[in-house]
Amino acid sequence: MTEKGLREVVAAATSISDIDGARGRLWYVGYDIHDLAENATYEEVVHLLHTLHLPNRGELDALTDFMVEEREVSRFLREVMPTLAQQTSPMSMLRTSVSAASAYDPDGWDNSAEANERKAYRLIAKTPTLLAMYHRMRTGQEIVPPNPKLPHAASFLAMLLGEEPSQEDADVLDTTFTLYADHTMNASTFTARIIASTLADMFSAITGAIAALKGPLHGGANEEAMKMLEEVGSPERAEAYVADRLERKQKIMGFGHAVYKTMDPRAIVLKKLSKEAGERHDDPRWYEISEAIERTVTEQKGLHANVDFYAASVYHVLGIPTDLMTPIFAIARMAGWTAHVREQYADNRVIRPDSDYVGPRRQSYVPIEERR
Ligand SMILES: CC(C)(COP(=O)(O)OP(=O)(O)OC[C@H]1O[C@@H](n2cnc3c(N)ncnc32)[C@H](O)[C@@H]1OP(=O)(O)O)[C@@H](O)C(=O)NCCC(=O)NCCS
Repeated sequence: MTEKGLREVVAAATSISDIDGARGRLWYVGYDIHDLAENATYEEVVHLLHTLHLPNRGELDALTDFMVEEREVSRFLREVMPTLAQQTSPMSMLRTSVSAASAYDPDGWDNSAEANERKAYRLIAKTPTLLAMYHRMRTGQEIVPPNPKLPHAASFLAMLLGEEPSQEDADVLDTTFTLYADHTMNASTFTARIIASTLADMFSAITGAIAALKGPLHGGANEEAMKMLEEVGSPERAEAYVADRLERKQKIMGFGHAVYKTMDPRAIVLKKLSKEAGERHDDPRWYEISEAIERTVTEQKGLHANVDFYAASVYHVLGIPTDLMTPIFAIARMAGWTAHVREQYADNRVIRPDSDYVGPRRQSYVPIEERR
């Protein structure tokens, strides 16, 4: 029988990203994540994941222009947003909005490769606007339209917080988007590829991916990590907190990984960003608590931080509310999800695994009156 959770099962061939879990390495199309985090913009990464090469200046300008044009959302979504802002969690809003966005996509139900390329870039472009709009509405603040002069990440922060971010904050957010952009066959990407493999449309596949990301064992961990930092409150309390949780066999969110057996390479970058951003904002406390927790968890349980752990303190000092941390993961991962959906369509076979039957056999039907 296959190991529970499909570990080690290869579900698809991909040219998009690759992981070496033992050594803690991650590559997008052969480029080391550290190299990309240091040097590439999120827009370049979007191009890389979708076309399998880094863009030249002309290609980058064309992609950026298209995405800037597509940042506005349809009237339909603007009309349903007040209800979603009042009644739903941010991840449920995103899931519902992406599903609803299919109604007004200019390419309609066209499932050609060209239409899917445009749908992919539209989804990447529009989802930050949806999230910012949702947050402004639920907090009774005026909606801030996308700023065509700002890059993708900076425009999102401006729409969310109502003021143009500093270059440093914009750069930090952009780097986190790059780090979250793709991650091989994780649960949400697999979900998207399964849906795409039935030849259902791009919006259906991405709606499913958002649903899979919602759970605390996947994307939800960054929010849980932030709540933990708040609960711990000071670095001195980290040791007792961790010991108590481990004693009660409870998980420490933001630690452990299905693939990495050492520190997640994205967490290495985020740890540095957390320290720098904390100091720059005169709010180093969250980094200090995080660092104390990390040291204790590694000492006591031998577990390493994953991407979600240091993302929490980074987002917090940028002024991002805790319950928007998972949706931000989603808007960044939109690049990878849509690239995987397109890759699935390009060389498709319906994904249909087998199961090991472990229930009873040779049973005979008993009329209901004779059943105990
Ligand atoms: C990511 C995760 C789901 C990977 O799960 P997995 O590969 O199935 O690993 P397992 O759950 O089998 O864990 C193996 C052991 O480590 C323990 N463990 C794993 N992650 C742990 C954590 N975060 N805190 C405490 N113990 C943990 C398990 O309890 C298990 O211990 P045991 O052998 O004594 O039963 C898991 O590490 C986890 O739940 N982490 C917290 C949530 C999180 O941060 N998710 C974001 C992932 S990017």
